[in-house]
Amino acid sequence: MAQIQTIGILTSGGDAPGMNAAIRAVTRTAIYNGIRVMGIKRGYYGLVYNEIEEFTSKSVSNIIQQGGTILKTARCKEFTTAEGRHKAYENMRAAGIDALVVIGGDGSLSGARIFAEEYDIAIVGLPGTIDNDLGGTDRTIGYDTALNTIVEAVDKIRDTATSHERLFLVEVMGHMAGYLALNGAIASGAEAAIIPEMETEIDQLADLVNRGFRKSKNSAIVLVAENPTTGGAMGLAQRIKEEFPEYDARVTILGHLQRGGSPTAADRILASRMGAQAITALREGQRNVMIGIKNGELVYVPFSKATQHHPIPNHDDMEIVKMLSI
Ligand code: F6P
Repeated sequence: MAQIQTIGILTSGGDAPGMNAAIRAVTRTAIYNGIRVMGIKRGYYGLVYNEIEEFTSKSVSNIIQQGGTILKTARCKEFTTAEGRHKAYENMRAAGIDALVVIGGDGSLSGARIFAEEYDIAIVGLPGTIDNDLGGTDRTIGYDTALNTIVEAVDKIRDTATSHERLFLVEVMGHMAGYLALNGAIASGAEAAIIPEMETEIDQLADLVNRGFRKSKNSAIVLVAENPTTGGAMGLAQRIKEEFPEYDARVTILGHLQRGGSPTAADRILASRMGAQAITALREGQRNVMIGIKNGELVYVPFSKATQHHPIPNHDDMEIVKMLSI
């Protein structure tokens, strides 16, 4: 197999704190190993429309602490078409790129898998998403920072919830996965987490009300994972109004606040380790794998596993929220 001489790097999908730390690690590890780096702007859009520029070590100076992504990001419709991917391939070859490092979530890695299958190119993925919803990895880059942002916000909401003796439904992101809601609830001492994974098992709202969560307190905070099917926190607030009018519920949607901010040390370290490993993987001849982390060890996860298997948050952790909120 021919030695890789030039890599392209892009960030795609929703941004996540720590993406910059990953860009820095990939770039500097590549240069350290004599590999050229081309930065591709706006995710796959930059490949399709040829927004590609060479990166030096200086291009990634002073970014480890910054949220967002210096490469910009996008969700690119053109890349979902065969014609768009063909243009992307031509631009990639014209720029002399032999391999790609793609940092993003399941949509971005699914795009990478299709592209790699069609054009026989080496692609290594890094799990960049606040949702923590990729298969084969215990953690994704950005999740820890988002979790800490949620905890900080809930701590503040609790002050007013306690003063007014109200029920607050705090909606967090997650893209149909309940990690942020569940672990956000544990970390902020919330009374409950309502997550999409449990939706078909029980009526989580009725369960919460029926177990008398206000017996020992006059306020409550419930972390609700966003859920377009049920309407998330707004949908639940409507149900409370109709079914449990004795409660005075308020809704706070944390929204894109959760995607911003300086990455935590944990995210910077994870991104740096994974970024360096992406170059090791390419030098070892690995392709079409995402770098994951399992029990503290970096592992290679085939794209098919990373994108198809969504691990279910632990039922025991749901029990912990319940037990600790009595
Ligand atoms: O995947 C990251 C994420 O923030 C999800 O949690 C959320 O559902 C989605 O992106 C929001 O996407 P957008 O910023 O395009 O509205």
